[in-house]
Amino acid sequence: MANETRPRTDLAAPGRVKDLSSVSNPIVKDIRALAAKKGRDETGLFIAEGLKLVLDALEAGWVLKTLLVAKAELHGALLAKAAARARAAGADVVEASSKVMEAVSRRDNPQSAIGVFKQKTTALEKLAFGADGVVVALDRVRDPGNLGTIMRTVDAAGAKGVVLIGDCVDPFSMEAVRATMGSIFAVPLARVSEEAFLRWRRDFKGLVAGTHMRGETDYRDATYSGRPVVLLMGNEQAGLTEPLANACEALLRIPQAGRADSLNLGVATGIMLFEARRKALKL
Ligand SMILES: C[S@@+](CC[C@H](N)C(=O)[O-])C[C@H]1O[C@@H](n2cnc3c(N)ncnc32)[C@H](O)[C@@H]1O
Repeated sequence: MANETRPRTDLAAPGRVKDLSSVSNPIVKDIRALAAKKGRDETGLFIAEGLKLVLDALEAGWVLKTLLVAKAELHGALLAKAAARARAAGADVVEASSKVMEAVSRRDNPQSAIGVFKQKTTALEKLAFGADGVVVALDRVRDPGNLGTIMRTVDAAGAKGVVLIGDCVDPFSMEAVRATMGSIFAVPLARVSEEAFLRWRRDFKGLVAGTHMRGETDYRDATYSGRPVVLLMGNEQAGLTEPLANACEALLRIPQAGRADSLNLGVATGIMLFEARRKALKL
């Protein structure tokens, strides 16, 4: 862990190849510190695991600072290719022992490649909705698994982005990134306060559709086509705040049977997204 007595190691030193076997090495300690929000906030970096995912991220133009590769698996052609691509992109490549890979991933069976990337978000005003694109806005989402699942679903549905409103879970936490299954690198992400979202909403010409347990409109009866759409989803415990609910043109409900009070946020978002996309695409 970086501390006041020891300066942080240069995770971004260009193109170097290092051989690491000890978990007490300062480079390993600094990478491990990225598991905590404090470490991510201080450096603006985050960890993403998986060989294909690292290659896809490089392809999409994300900035890779350091690539850890499992030394024992370096004979694999794809891993060697990833290491070469990373070096060409100016990243520091670290050949690590399995102990180091386990310590960084905090798992028994770590992936063969772990990337340290620079975080990236988009300004809300810069989100490209297109003529009839759908964006999901999440009010104070707290669960990293829900957020990751939603980003993955947004990606799969061909939606245009995710807006995090208010005090949300960190999208760059290891758990959230894992749950995105790589979609963290494909889905534009904006972060705003509730006030900033409400200000932006005043000039937004598309449909802002909230989902609410007290919504009066069946989600299948809404008209989503012909203009951009924001699907506003509520917090896992409390649902949407009153100001956000009041800012919606429509409050939609997914009819339920049985005894469950509500659907899981990720499941509700998936249902809403595919309905909105189906109608927008007239499928
Ligand atoms: C777990 S629910 C929140 C439940 C909360 N106790 C409430 O009363 O709003 C989280 C979010 O998922 C969405 N959601 C869950 N079930 C829904 C349903 N049947 N209809 C519409 N939205 C739903 C809403 O956006 C809701 O705010």
